[in-house]
Amino acid sequence: MSNTEQKPEEHNEGHSAMIKTPKQLLVTVALAFLVPIAIIVMLVSLVTSTMGAGAGSSALSPEAIAARIQPVAGFKLVDANAVKELKTGQQVYETTCTACHGAGIAGAPKFGDNGAWGELLKLGQDELVKNAIHGIRAMPAKGGNPSLDDIEVARAVAYMANAAGADFKEPEAPAPEGEEADAAKTDAAAPAAEAPKATETVAADDSKVDPAGIKLYDTICFACHAAGIAGAPKFGDQAAWKPYIESGMDTMVQKAIHGVGAMPPRGGSQASDDEIRAAIQHMVNAAK
Ligand code: HEC
Ligand code: HEC
Repeated sequence: MSNTEQKPEEHNEGHSAMIKTPKQLLVTVALAFLVPIAIIVMLVSLVTSTMGAGAGSSALSPEAIAARIQPVAGFKLVDANAVKELKTGQQVYETTCTACHGAGIAGAPKFGDNGAWGELLKLGQDELVKNAIHGIRAMPAKGGNPSLDDIEVARAVAYMANAAGADFKEPEAPAPEGEEADAAKTDAAAPAAEAPKATETVAADDSKVDPAGIKLYDTICFACHAAGIAGAPKFGDQAAWKPYIESGMDTMVQKAIHGVGAMPPRGGSQASDDEIRAAIQHMVNAAK
């Protein structure tokens, strides 16, 4: 009742009693600004870190596709703050570049194909490395894997070029490496031999399948499905396809269109829904 001479509605309330000195008022005002700002900053960083790669970018961008392909090849996402262990050219090739260069997808010079690489090699190592890092035409920057170090890309270029007859040196790095020589020696033999083939021996009754679907399979889907790369159900493998077939055609089509697990949306192609369906029918026919 000591405050009766003042206006009752404000000053009889608790908070008038809590702020008694100008200093307290300053602190209160400062906190009133700082606390919400701190919360906003925390929320923003939380959101940006959880949204992570590719929020807002097209699901079909090379980066997004590569991001989906990465887990396939067992590629480890490296914490930017962690000390990065640089991969050898062969490792980079096998985790990233093989997706296109293994089979020569989309006009990519095929691994171990001296003819396809002959003209390119004349550009010289520096130029090729530059193009691989920054991208050129259908070749995405760093093969669509932005987490690769420039040196890793350069090593992969050397690895691939050497497999096609070049004599490039894989660039050294601060990280300890002993595999360059081995890689250069073994590269011609290794993954090229495993590159999937477009021609199958599996018999499939495709009389009712739209030829566009078979063509799509032969140009795109086979890259993973022919050899069962990265866990893709293999062409002609009944056991592998059984659970998918049981899920029904429509489910498979939807999953293939939107991507599932290591399977990129539309297999990384621009094919129409009908073509996707036909390509799946072609694979299903082969797995019956
Ligand atoms: C998404 C498919 C794709 C991936 C993944 C990919 N490439 Fe390519 N790459 C291409 C295509 C397509 C070309 C042909 C580009 C052209 O000449 O039109 C190409 C061309 C190249 C060339 C020749 C560039 C030139 O000067 O013409 C080099 C070198 C190369 N790639 C290196 C790499 C390396 C290294 C990786 C892995 C880090 C990689 N690529 C991953 C598709 C790919
Ligand atoms: C880069 C490799 C890759 C390419 C290219 C690719 N696939 Fe796949 N696909 C996979 C993998 C891996 C799976 C298994 C995904 C899973 O179940 O986690 C898969 C699964 C599928 C499935 C089963 C989906 C489901 O869960 O029902 C279908 C259908 C399919 N792919 C169709 C296609 C078609 C059609 C194409 C060509 C247009 C294609 N794929 C190209 C890797 C690929």
